[in-house]
Amino acid sequence: MITKVLFGVPFPTDAVTQPVEQVRELKHFSVGEEYGCLIFTCPLDADEVVYGLGETTGGLNKRGGQYISFNTDTADHSDSNPSLYASHNLLVLEKRNFCIFFDTPGKVDFRIDLNGSGKIEVICRGNMAVYQVEAGSTYEAVREFLAAVGPSYLPPRWAFGYGQSRFGYKCEQDFLEVMEGHQKAGLPLDYICMDIDYMDGYRDFSVDSSRFPDLKAFSERMLKEGIRLVPIVDAGIKVDPGEPVYEDGVKHGVFCTNKEGKLFQGGVWPGMTHFPDFLNPKARKWFGQQYKFYTDRGIEGFWNDMNEPALFYTEYTKGPKKLDLALNFVFPRLRKKVKERHTVRDYQSFFHQVDSKPVCHYDVHNIYGGNMIRATSEGLSELLDHRYLIFGRSSYIGAGRYGGVWTGDNTSCWEHIMLNLRHMASLNMCGFLYSGADTGGFMGNCSRELLLRWLAVSTFTPLMRNHSSMGTRAQEAYRFGDPEAFRRILSLRYRLLPYIYSEYMKAALRSDMYIKPLAFTFPEDEKVKNIEDQLLVGNSIMIAPIVTKGATARNVYLPEDMTMVRYDGRDFVCTPCPKGDRQVEVPLDQVVFFIRKDRLLPVGKAVCNSREVTAEDLQLLGDGKTYELYWDDGMTRNCTEDNIRVLEKS
Ligand code: GLC
Repeated sequence: MITKVLFGVPFPTDAVTQPVEQVRELKHFSVGEEYGCLIFTCPLDADEVVYGLGETTGGLNKRGGQYISFNTDTADHSDSNPSLYASHNLLVLEKRNFCIFFDTPGKVDFRIDLNGSGKIEVICRGNMAVYQVEAGSTYEAVREFLAAVGPSYLPPRWAFGYGQSRFGYKCEQDFLEVMEGHQKAGLPLDYICMDIDYMDGYRDFSVDSSRFPDLKAFSERMLKEGIRLVPIVDAGIKVDPGEPVYEDGVKHGVFCTNKEGKLFQGGVWPGMTHFPDFLNPKARKWFGQQYKFYTDRGIEGFWNDMNEPALFYTEYTKGPKKLDLALNFVFPRLRKKVKERHTVRDYQSFFHQVDSKPVCHYDVHNIYGGNMIRATSEGLSELLDHRYLIFGRSSYIGAGRYGGVWTGDNTSCWEHIMLNLRHMASLNMCGFLYSGADTGGFMGNCSRELLLRWLAVSTFTPLMRNHSSMGTRAQEAYRFGDPEAFRRILSLRYRLLPYIYSEYMKAALRSDMYIKPLAFTFPEDEKVKNIEDQLLVGNSIMIAPIVTKGATARNVYLPEDMTMVRYDGRDFVCTPCPKGDRQVEVPLDQVVFFIRKDRLLPVGKAVCNSREVTAEDLQLLGDGKTYELYWDDGMTRNCTEDNIRVLEKS
């Protein structure tokens, strides 16, 4: 059962959309007050696992860490950084079949058995709702929470194809080269992302016509080859008198203002920008309508970035920012502190209009990014009569109804494959089903081995995009000599596409998770509690990828009898395996995964584009009897249970 307790007058975040009964008392948590803050406390048993918090650092089990919900543009994804791009204030107490959501748009400090305290402490300001769910199992509690949040975003089928991206593709020629590179190497591909270089001077809703003389013709030409263009759209609009988008925004009063009522300015990629007031429905509508620029040119997929919002500098901190740069070289730690102070000052200096009243950005900071995704999604749903791709960087619970997320500027390192796995399970608990990491890593240089192992993980995540930064070693799958190993792994993604798509759509329709920890399905099994490198993907598959450099085998724990599937690029070799531990060999050019007992896995043909994926002649692997297949044309908005049919193994 889901209930809520109110503390003061909550700020409407729109995270939960279903009516929830109000009660007076919180379960498991006591509430105190200190220095104007609320402190929620819950003692923990020694063996209790605490899940949740969506996109944060730390383990899948959050014990032993401090996590601060305060959306931050940061490339430091190490455990010592308490704040990433998103704030997902949900805790899941596994032993108690209980989850709790602290619904407040401001900063929240989560200390979970920090320094062995033996308790959870959650510190935040008041004026909030706290939602709590008690159910018969942890899994049921999370599903009830997801139902209260509301149905997940539904991407088109092509968004489950493989995408290639790089900060640094500059002109038509670069995109053609990427497409041809994949084609020549026999590697599948569905879309190529356009990073900020496509824009005219980094202005949203513009294109540099010297590099893309006719974007419409170019996108049509690419689409003929089955490749879609997916441009980036950033939060800030360049301050640019005389330029139509800018002038129109000023005219319609859609930008955030400072204390004096003047338009607030912050430096991002294009120089000084104004920030659309995404908390204001009028501004959201205005921003959403601007996407006509792209839809008129045949473009139907986007990523939203810099929406924490990221601020490189402001008029208030221009001077100190210089000092900041100097400090970077001398005292990096001190620099971090100085930067944090500036950011707080910047965020305190601008305002939104909520119900015609000014609201300081700092107090509602964490819901800004999610509302940008909402603006984009609502705009596109008016401009198009079918589904579209949208994923963003910064988010808050609830934004998963409007789009997906990617997990930002990670690094080409082994730890971040592990972080990718943890994020997927935690994000799913918070209603972000369409998610993925920069496969291969954004910062740093990726090796062939790292990319192959990472692709083997991303094969199972809804968003499967290879993205990297300029200045790093080229990372396209055809750049590492003989592409055969890459071909094998990428072909598995397309053979699994009927399953991935079907499981995703069923999860979205049924308030379910697409990826989940083993403990959600095997709550009685003590051994699975702390397994973080094996996950359930949909209801038929368990994955246990290699996440260590140099490893060619690993231990896998099977919580029940399962069928081991080894895919060598051509055949699926199935071996029944009994419950228990098992050492599994996984050569670099193979993927090994497991089908659950009494389940089936439909697999299709190896193809090079999602257009060629069909639901005909699916092969059914595993020892189950039936499989419920969701299938439609991949574009319709009419996504219902009627599109599900039962496949039977003969
Ligand atoms: C940000 C994004 C990254 C993008 C870059 C340039 O760092 O996280 O993905 O490539 O900006 O737009």
